[in-house]
Amino acid sequence: MKVVFATQNKGKSQEVKNLFEGTNIEIVSLADLGNDIDVEETGTTFYENALLKAKTIYEIYKMPVISDDSGLEIKQLGGRPGVYSARYAGENCTFDDNNKKVTEELKSYRQPHRAKFVSQAIYYDGKEILSFTGELPGRMIDKPRGNFGFGYDPIFIPDGFANTLAELTVEEKNMISHRAKSFELLRKELIKRIKK
Ligand code: IMP
Repeated sequence: MKVVFATQNKGKSQEVKNLFEGTNIEIVSLADLGNDIDVEETGTTFYENALLKAKTIYEIYKMPVISDDSGLEIKQLGGRPGVYSARYAGENCTFDDNNKKVTEELKSYRQPHRAKFVSQAIYYDGKEILSFTGELPGRMIDKPRGNFGFGYDPIFIPDGFANTLAELTVEEKNMISHRAKSFELLRKELIKRIKK
């Protein structure tokens, strides 16, 4: 079964392809299809945005689509950056810009800066919508560490670890991440359906 993954994010793409390796579900990314569409995230929840991406890409390819909308919720910032995680420091900002903004905002709060990553994974095939959530709790630090991963990985330490997510390999991150959790639930459901 071929499924399009509706993302332009190379880090996410790599993570999710790894998660489906060894199954009979083949993940094709938008980059693999030579498509550089960037679906505008106008929703106010992870669910709305994930569904928006899945439906937009479904209308182009008429193939089953998976998508995710994800982000970081920091307790002391009232859940921000949340759905604005990708563009927290403004349109066309870099991951580094976002990390600097978060670090700056957290300066006036005491440690620990509790936070969690959230991933809402969606499957859409033109008729049915499947939806699963995954979370990764942890805390923010004020100096970036590590070169793996993407986004807020260098300033986030997952609970039970001494390293930031950017100091873990993609395989290590995939054992614990919010996306691994949501897509694992989705993967199980899809495999169950294929077998029927
Ligand atoms: P999305 O592509 O609209 O879901 O945006 C997700 C944004 O949330 C990314 O651009 C990152 O800023 C952040 N994010 C989501 N998942 C992760 C992760 O695993 N590590 C670091 N940042 C993440």
